[in-house]
Amino acid sequence: MASDEIPAGSLDPQQFIREQVREIGEAVGQGTAVNALSGGVDSSAVTLLGHRALGDRLKTYFVQNGLMREGEPERVISLFAGLGVKVELVDAQEEFFAALKGVTDPEEKREAVTQTFYKKVFGRLVRESGARFLLQGTILTDVDETVAGIKRQHNVFAQLGIDPEQAFGYAILEPLVRLRKDGVRKVAEALDLPASVFRRMPFPGPALAARVIGEATPERIALVRKATVITEELLSSSGAFQCMAILHQDRVTGMRDNRRDYGLQIEIRCWDSVDARRALPTRLDWETLENLSLRILDEVPGVVSVTYNIAPKPPSTMEAV
Ligand code: XMP
Repeated sequence: MASDEIPAGSLDPQQFIREQVREIGEAVGQGTAVNALSGGVDSSAVTLLGHRALGDRLKTYFVQNGLMREGEPERVISLFAGLGVKVELVDAQEEFFAALKGVTDPEEKREAVTQTFYKKVFGRLVRESGARFLLQGTILTDVDETVAGIKRQHNVFAQLGIDPEQAFGYAILEPLVRLRKDGVRKVAEALDLPASVFRRMPFPGPALAARVIGEATPERIALVRKATVITEELLSSSGAFQCMAILHQDRVTGMRDNRRDYGLQIEIRCWDSVDARRALPTRLDWETLENLSLRILDEVPGVVSVTYNIAPKPPSTMEAV
């Protein structure tokens, strides 16, 4: 599929859907395909495009990698059941944590998630199902940032000269690769996905591993998951493009019960952006920031410092890893 951009402003979503359904159908022929649904707008749109094109010949999985947000698998599986799409849950937590063990470098962490996902977990699912194709929701921004060497997005291969057939044993179809996030939202709405999906804040492929600086152990992921629940509860109605909590590696001196507590630091980021290429920190009001801080200090064990990021992208990126 060509990778010239279709800007959201000139996108005709219904025509785009017809074209992509036809292209997926032609590429897969009488064969079968698989796809991973995380519940984000990209993978949700791909899941519905794929099911329109292939019906039962597309098998959809939710990969529980242990790095997801609270309650995510149940929420996504039941939402798609309501749309008539059966989603199978694959528990791969042990494999992901084994691959992340001892890994602290950001790009090595991204690579560990990528390899576990595509080589181990998907390699196995594809072999077991006999499928030859993987459908995935790569968008143009993922490709741009990876090719520019800014950040290795988990889902970019061909553009880096990697042939998925050789590397993993299956071909990858990317129906959304000419769109940016704003275009995908239009397509998702036209596919009759609910607003909770087509307006959903982006969430990165490496999931909460992108929000833990240093090693992503099950314990540290559990801490950032708690902080994420609070952050999303308080900020998702702010109208921001995206918000997140990040667990830092450094500790700082704090005090609890009149004793020194050398504790953890959580950084909050909240972004205004149109297409994730550039972003500015949202001007949150002080009361909201105070509520965030008090709830995180109270509810996330061991945290003594809560900060709010005020640096724009660039030179920052949105995720910390
Ligand atoms: P950055 O951190 O690169 O993020 O400024 C830009 C947008 O992309 C999301 N992001 C990812 N999405 N796979 C994804 O599907 C990834 O590996 C990945 N890394 C970052 C990020 O959440 C933001 O919306």
